[in-house]
Amino acid sequence: MGVKQLDQVNSLVIVGAQWGDEGKGKVIDFLSSKADLVVRFQGGDNAGHTVVYGANVFKLHHVPSGILNPETLCLLGNGMVINPLVLVRELDELEKRGIDTSNLRISAKAHLIMAYHQALDEANEVMLAEKKIGTTGRGIGPAYADKVLRRGIRAGELVDFGSFGERLNEVLPLHNRILKDIYGHPGFNLKEMNALYRPALNRLGPLVTDTTRLLAEKMAEGKKILFEGAQGALLDIDHGTYPYVTSSSTVAAAAASGTGLGPAGVTRVLGVLKAYTTRVGEGPFPTEDLAEAGDQLRERGSEFGTTTGRSRRCGWFDAVIARYAARINGLTGLAVTKLDVLSGMEVINLAVKYSCNGREIEYFPERIRDLSQCEPVYRTFPGWDEDLSMVRCYEDLPEAAKHFLEALEDSVGVKIDLISIGPDRSQTIVCKNSQIEIWSNCRQE
Ligand code: GDP
Ligand code: IMO
Ligand code: MG
Repeated sequence: MGVKQLDQVNSLVIVGAQWGDEGKGKVIDFLSSKADLVVRFQGGDNAGHTVVYGANVFKLHHVPSGILNPETLCLLGNGMVINPLVLVRELDELEKRGIDTSNLRISAKAHLIMAYHQALDEANEVMLAEKKIGTTGRGIGPAYADKVLRRGIRAGELVDFGSFGERLNEVLPLHNRILKDIYGHPGFNLKEMNALYRPALNRLGPLVTDTTRLLAEKMAEGKKILFEGAQGALLDIDHGTYPYVTSSSTVAAAAASGTGLGPAGVTRVLGVLKAYTTRVGEGPFPTEDLAEAGDQLRERGSEFGTTTGRSRRCGWFDAVIARYAARINGLTGLAVTKLDVLSGMEVINLAVKYSCNGREIEYFPERIRDLSQCEPVYRTFPGWDEDLSMVRCYEDLPEAAKHFLEALEDSVGVKIDLISIGPDRSQTIVCKNSQIEIWSNCRQE
């Protein structure tokens, strides 16, 4: 067999560089017209990725944002946790809207989120009371915990009803005991669980395959592959604002372990950031604005969660966390979204550093306790009133917007490749000499 070098231009990892909901779905859909494959590598249906074109709005939870392109093969990688009941619903809804989902494949090694995981997630949040994480309630944490504790059920079991039932029989009693003894939950009945999951097995079983081998074959053929991150850098289980994080590794390196891609494949990494910052759930957020500006951002940016409908906390762009995200992800480019939302703000703030117990620091503190003591130090920019939604090239942006973007780029230290000025696929500016030019072909109809 010949030795094939990985062409680094052929793969691009796209990750959230804040606390999630940065607009990854929009950016991935924009780039996916040129992609042969779009691959999810971590997370589950806690993700809510929105794709908009014309009057069509799609909210995707498991399914990669490349699914709307009929030529693109979509993979759910081994690093994911998948709720089979929710996935079936998601596929049915897409099919009902005329989207062909036959191009989806599921890694046999991905773990299943079961009904008892959701029950545990919810019960645990209730028990934590005011110390709760503010999870999406999708059972993400308990499903990843079971994976690590070696008592999970993997998607490979979906191909055979007998082995699924056997595995369920092995793991259910322990979960029932935990649910009953610790949380006072009635638990789940084995027979009912088997009946509940049977239709999902029939539907999803044929889609389960060895995605690591499939990916390697496609790479050897020189296919173009996008890796679709979920959540964001500050929700990463290691590098995020622990314990107010999700339960997976959300950084670019996870694209390798979460798909079986070698690390050499992760050389081009696009970090998606809003031109301001939002967060859903609990935990520190130094640039959060609890006054009028925060409300304005929420209203203008329609900042309500795609998965849970919760109101998102809003605040200014934070270059300290963006630099941190750039470092832990090895970002080679930025996609700045929702610039249009800043139109009409009298002044725009950008945090360049923090003031922490009388000291100024430019780096992201290691301990969450220290982060809670940090006050942002802002640079203030004049706003602009122009509506940006029809702008299609950088030169046509108002001078004040360009000035803000240049300062943002400078303060993060990574080149801006793409600017988004509206939710629609067409509301996108590809910057000159950017690493994504080969992916975009200016899909700006
Ligand atoms: P994701 O989880 O990173 O894919 O982001 P979400 O889909 O959860 O949230 C982003 C929201 O902003 C969605 O409603 C998008 O349709 C919307 N959006 C994306 N880019 C832009 C933009 O440039 N401007 C505006 N106004 N909305 C955008
Ligand atoms: P996308 O991919 C924003 C947050 C939850 C909570 C914490 C833990 O759409 O950007 P979990 O259910 O994962 O155990 O919740 O993580 N969270 C997200 N916030 N966007 C997401 O995904 C998120 N997925 C999880 O709000 O604070
Ligand atoms: Mg989202």
